[in-house]
Amino acid sequence: MTQPLRLGIAGLGTVGIGVVKIIRRQAALLEARTGRRIEITAVSARDASKDRGVSLKDYAWETDPVALAKRDDVDVFVELMGGHEGAAKNAIEAALATGKDVVTANKALLAIHGQALAEQAEGAGRIIRFEAAVAGGIPVIKSLTEGLAGNEITRVMGVMNGTCNYILTRMEATGQGYNVLFDECARLGYLEADPNLDVGGIDAGHKLAILSSIAFGTKPAFDDVQLEGIQRIELDDIRAAADMGYRIKLLGVAQRSARGLEQRMTPCLVPANSPLGQLEGGTNMVVIEADAVEQVVLRGPGAGEGPTASAVMGDVCDLARGFRIPAFGQPAKTLKEAPAAQTGLPAPFYLRMSLQDKPGALAEVAAILGEAGISIDRMRQYGHEEPTAPVLIVTHKCTRATLDEALDALETTDVVDGTPVALRIEEL
Ligand code: NAP
Ligand code: HSE
Repeated sequence: MTQPLRLGIAGLGTVGIGVVKIIRRQAALLEARTGRRIEITAVSARDASKDRGVSLKDYAWETDPVALAKRDDVDVFVELMGGHEGAAKNAIEAALATGKDVVTANKALLAIHGQALAEQAEGAGRIIRFEAAVAGGIPVIKSLTEGLAGNEITRVMGVMNGTCNYILTRMEATGQGYNVLFDECARLGYLEADPNLDVGGIDAGHKLAILSSIAFGTKPAFDDVQLEGIQRIELDDIRAAADMGYRIKLLGVAQRSARGLEQRMTPCLVPANSPLGQLEGGTNMVVIEADAVEQVVLRGPGAGEGPTASAVMGDVCDLARGFRIPAFGQPAKTLKEAPAAQTGLPAPFYLRMSLQDKPGALAEVAAILGEAGISIDRMRQYGHEEPTAPVLIVTHKCTRATLDEALDALETTDVVDGTPVALRIEEL
């Protein structure tokens, strides 16, 4: 008789308990599909006395996740604690060193230490899987590594942080400002323990770094992701974008060209009628473009107990079936170093700035943009009561590097108040 697959689960929070529930609720289905019973032998979390809403009495308890990872009665170590250093990293390394396969949902860990962990796993003949690390319940890693394995990927992009998309879409729908909606997310429990991971674009940047590595056969390079958060987006930006037929999204784009590997996770204007523009609330979307298939759009819940546990279980079922694939879709030693593209392809940009309401102010802005070779496509100045006037400008195509030089020059003048907001307009 086939032996059961024995899991040790470290982390019994939102995702960990979701996994326990699926394994208990769907035992027969999982066995029918994989040909093996999937059992939990031991679990770990910080507080053994916490009521987690499900009975854990059938499982051995380990307070130390490293001890759990090393247990002889565990075949697969399931890491659902989070954090890119400390307990999660130590326990995964211990699991691989003691002959366990690993399943994790930890995007920060994979984006930062993915290469070293993949090499350790392969050196030990073990497997590390992390479907849940990117876009929650959407099987995007499986799509790239399996279904699209025959394609050369040309571009991967998407909205991969539900909290940011929730804030941005609710700003438009309710007319409430960023701070009000940030507080609403805190009340609803949507924010990471460090909210800057969400609103600073870091969480989504981790996800993009993982996807780029798989898509382009490169070592995960989170430090090369150009990151910008949504904290400076104001209702005026949302309204102006809507007036022009756009929506603002925290958009991740990864593409490889002769200029190098471009990875950016920044707020952008996208056409309101595009699939990405129509994405509401906490939902995620990943768009994959490739030579043979052309375009695939994946949409689904990017977070939460059920969706994230669903992705974890996809990996667990693969291991139960004996399906083994390298972490980033090809052997870790064959992943290439990719030089980061120094600047993205030219695009139009949306600019918002506060100008001193005095003669010659607009002329000075136009002159600085003109000297940088940046042509103005559209411009608006709104009525105002303050001594400064809000001015919106849409440029013709230019590179971000050229624009940044012009923005630096604008900031040194005495007509521009504060730092202008500059958002790329992404025609999809
Ligand atoms: P969570 O609710 O905060 O749960 C974390 C769990 O880990 C808790 O049970 C905690 O124990 C345990 N833990 C933390 N540090 C520990 C340590 N040093 N030793 C032992 N146990 C420790 O987190 P989560 O939302 O389930 O997220 C888990 C992972 O999934 C993270 O990597 C996260 O980024 C990823 N993820 C989450 C989602 C989501 O929707 N939540 C989506 C995609 C990916 P106590 O309960 O005793 O405090
Ligand atoms: N904080 C993440 C989000 C959840 O808002 O999408 C899990 O990745």
